[in-house]
Amino acid sequence: MRVERGGINVTALGSHASSESGPRSAPGDGRPGGDSGSGAVIRCSGVHKTYRTAGREVRALRGVDLTIDGPGFYAIMGASGSGKSTLLHLLAALDAPDRGELFVSGHALHTMTERQLTNLRRRNLGIVFQQFNLIPTLTARENVELPGALAGDSAAGLRERSEALLASLGLEGRGDHRPDALSGGEQQRVAIARALLYAPRVVLADEPTGNLDSVSAEKLWRLLGGIAQEQQITVVMVTHEPAAAAHCARVHVLQDGAVTGTIESEGLDAAGVATRYQELVRTA
Ligand SMILES: Nc1ncnc2c1ncn2[C@@H]1O[C@H](COP(=O)(O)OP(=O)(O)OP(=O)(O)O)[C@@H](O)[C@H]1O
Ligand SMILES: [Mg+2]
Repeated sequence: MRVERGGINVTALGSHASSESGPRSAPGDGRPGGDSGSGAVIRCSGVHKTYRTAGREVRALRGVDLTIDGPGFYAIMGASGSGKSTLLHLLAALDAPDRGELFVSGHALHTMTERQLTNLRRRNLGIVFQQFNLIPTLTARENVELPGALAGDSAAGLRERSEALLASLGLEGRGDHRPDALSGGEQQRVAIARALLYAPRVVLADEPTGNLDSVSAEKLWRLLGGIAQEQQITVVMVTHEPAAAAHCARVHVLQDGAVTGTIESEGLDAAGVATRYQELVRTA
């Protein structure tokens, strides 16, 4: 069946359960049969993070407790400086907490070695940033294949996967374009294709539409929601925009480094999310 979401065929990406055509996790790098951390896809408990620079301390996270059961499309919403990116970096195993427990897709991040975390990042997590982070000298196709090329995967397998991903994300005919010959929305879709290379169960996105116009942003939110649903994976998006959060099933509100509430956003529009958010922030 072909399902169109935001004008993009996401069914062709294949569900997580049937991703045989794509590169697989390396033997022994631990894709778990089930999730630990109380069965949730993501669980944070008492997570603290303080930045120390030039004798100054910033307490970015002050005891984050958060559970995301998944699969589905979820938002972490908060004001600038509330700690959203810090939390996402910890979930993406790009940084370590000072204190607390972090479980992602069955892995207890706080107990893992640097090498295990690198493997996890490469194979089990998809990460998307506001700035796209594409290599300007590589084509779209080469950017998508890059994690696999660095890991030494077969070129033929990678080519097959990247072609399928690019086509599925509406980028047919764009594979040979360098990033500067793509629109912002297209560049971000290349970054999403790269994030999906290993069919991860969890995709983490930090303000993925921060550099896009409102029409491209709307398209991207629909796309991420469609990917979560069709592939039965968990997509977590950090945002400060009610219009973005309205596409998600649930919104976790972050204030001053702690989760202070959740909004059941199914069926709410941007104005509805904004109202609930204001109520939460006022009473927190
Ligand atoms: N590398 C760093 N060194 C020192 N302080 C930092 C660092 N990164 C973030 N901070 C501080 O930690 C706090 C949380 O920052 P963070 O980037 O997580 O916020 P955010 O919610 O993502 O904000 P924004 O919406 O503006 O992206 C801020 O006060 C910020 O200045
Ligand atoms: Mg941020």
